[in-house]
Amino acid sequence: MIRVGAQLLSLWGRKQEETMLFVALLASVYLASVVGETDPAVDSTYVAAVYEHKIILNPNPRVPVSRHDALQHMQKNLDIYEEQAARAAQQGAQILVFPEDGIHGFNFTRSSIAGYLETIPDPQQESWNPCTEPGRYNNTEVVQRLSCMARHNNLYLVANMPDLQPCPLDTSTSSSCPPDGRWQFNTNVAFRSDGLLVARYHKQKLFFEESFDTPPELEVITFDTPFAGKFGLFICFDILFHDPAVVLVERGVRQLIFPTAWMNALPLLDSVQFHRAFSLGANVTLLAANIRNDERIMKGSGIYTPFSATYHHAWKGDPEEGRLLVARVPVLEPLGVKHNTAKEEGAGGGKFTSSVATDSGYCYQESCDDSSLDSGPSSYPTFVSSMMSDPFTFVHLNETEGDVKVCNGTFCCHLQYRWLLQDHKELYALGAFAGLHVVDGRYALQVCAIVRCAELDQSSCGQVVEEAESKMDFLLEGNFDTKYVYPSILTSRMILEQPENLEKAADGRVTMKHSNMKAGLVTACLYGRMYHLDNE
Ligand SMILES: *[C@@H]1O[C@H](CO)[C@@H](O)[C@H](O)[C@H]1NC(C)=O
Ligand SMILES: *[C@@H]1O[C@H](CO)[C@@H](O)[C@H](O)[C@H]1NC(C)=O
Ligand SMILES: *[C@@H]1O[C@H](CO)[C@@H](O)[C@H](O)[C@H]1NC(C)=O
Ligand SMILES: *[C@@H]1O[C@H](CO)[C@@H](O)[C@H](O)[C@H]1NC(C)=O
Ligand SMILES: *[C@@H]1O[C@H](CO)[C@@H](O)[C@H](O)[C@H]1NC(C)=O
Repeated sequence: MIRVGAQLLSLWGRKQEETMLFVALLASVYLASVVGETDPAVDSTYVAAVYEHKIILNPNPRVPVSRHDALQHMQKNLDIYEEQAARAAQQGAQILVFPEDGIHGFNFTRSSIAGYLETIPDPQQESWNPCTEPGRYNNTEVVQRLSCMARHNNLYLVANMPDLQPCPLDTSTSSSCPPDGRWQFNTNVAFRSDGLLVARYHKQKLFFEESFDTPPELEVITFDTPFAGKFGLFICFDILFHDPAVVLVERGVRQLIFPTAWMNALPLLDSVQFHRAFSLGANVTLLAANIRNDERIMKGSGIYTPFSATYHHAWKGDPEEGRLLVARVPVLEPLGVKHNTAKEEGAGGGKFTSSVATDSGYCYQESCDDSSLDSGPSSYPTFVSSMMSDPFTFVHLNETEGDVKVCNGTFCCHLQYRWLLQDHKELYALGAFAGLHVVDGRYALQVCAIVRCAELDQSSCGQVVEEAESKMDFLLEGNFDTKYVYPSILTSRMILEQPENLEKAADGRVTMKHSNMKAGLVTACLYGRMYHLDNE
């Protein structure tokens, strides 16, 4: 088992299969605030598990199937879940998370998914243990099996499945009820270790999912556990938006459960890269379970805390298979709130009851106001190249060391760098982008990124790169107009490094400092989200 706490350093210990990528680096900023203090939050730990599932798909998802056939298909995935729940329990897991779409699959139409739907009762309205009371609702085989998995293995379990809720066809009001009189939701369900259904969350930000509806009202859903207090729920694309992800964090929920079917998108939005960045930026623990499906570029799962990352990202040629990750992690208390023993709740455990609102997350250690970057040079030749479909303004990083600045409007990124190992067959650039991203979703950004360009010509800057040899020490800074900045450092072959230091100044400047990289740099990024501009 992996130990955390003042023993954080022993996270270096490897376990299980040798191909597993365990990285647990400590940012000095966090280390300083944790080790040596008698913070009860850090003394208490729990064991979390996520399962990256190689999904068995329905080969013809757009063709409707009977309930019988849909169940037969789903039972194949549930058989694997059952084996993994037992393995997780053997390793001491107290909570286990399965990925989005992991039981039914994807690419259904609104009607072809019908056989896969169950009507999941609202745990805030009634208390139901599907394993011990299977007769209460018809047509709930999947919910029942998941509940029994939690119960038989004595662990909390979160899975994702499709939910059907009948709705009133009332044409006189501006109801959001679809014309067929039912809502169909992409849904997380959470079970207590005795099988009780404790939470149900309907995905807010759908990503081109024609079989599903957006819930009529935003759902901010949490549940309590006796071993670690409160957990919040969200799903995949939700992580890029304010609701409910940031709402949860700003209400002081610091442990988030994140089933996903994440399609990797380098250089800025690979699974492990962005999930790790979210955990650091919001100062939360993220339990991220992804699908493994190479054809759809889905891979990369992890257990990310502000202090450590236990993750797996398959590399080219690795067999396409599932992967269970288990790690002991610290309980994170709501910041600025006294420790109080969490009690097991009955029905309604999914309700957000605490009125605690903290300014947790989104603030690193305050920087001393004497940033050396104030008076950097500004006139380097720039060029524009498309990265993630956005026009980034770039400057080359072709000197042995340098101090460069690149701006997009008033948003500027400033970099001091020194190569430790410069491979002249590799071109690097610093890019800045401030604006609205509009491809596959609308979201407003301010981004500073150091990238390795795919080739030696500048038009290749921003393209997908997975390997690199060059290493640099650097100080990267952006003058952000948002406090929501997600930092990440991705090195060759999908290995993460933990930034050595992160600071935020009162004026919005965010600084990430790093040195002595262990592998070649692929991307170092400060990903700022301007949530308030998403609808403009
Ligand atoms: C989903 O189905 C459509 C239509 O059959 C197909 O064109 C598309 O490639 C599929 N997408 C995925 C991700 O499988
Ligand atoms: C379940 O279905 C059976 C057969 O259709 C029906 O007799 C029974 O009333 C249903 N039970 C519930 C709880 O709806
Ligand atoms: C981040 O979380 C840790 C652990 O709860 C806490 O000690 C630290 O003060 C937090 N950092 C910030 C900047 O809020
Ligand atoms: C770096 O590139 C710039 C053009 O972007 C050029 O003016 C400069 O001479 C180059 N420096 C080196 C050391 O190659
Ligand atoms: C940012 O850069 C793009 C590409 O050069 C440009 O079209 C856009 O106007 C710039 N934004 C601002 C605010 O200057």
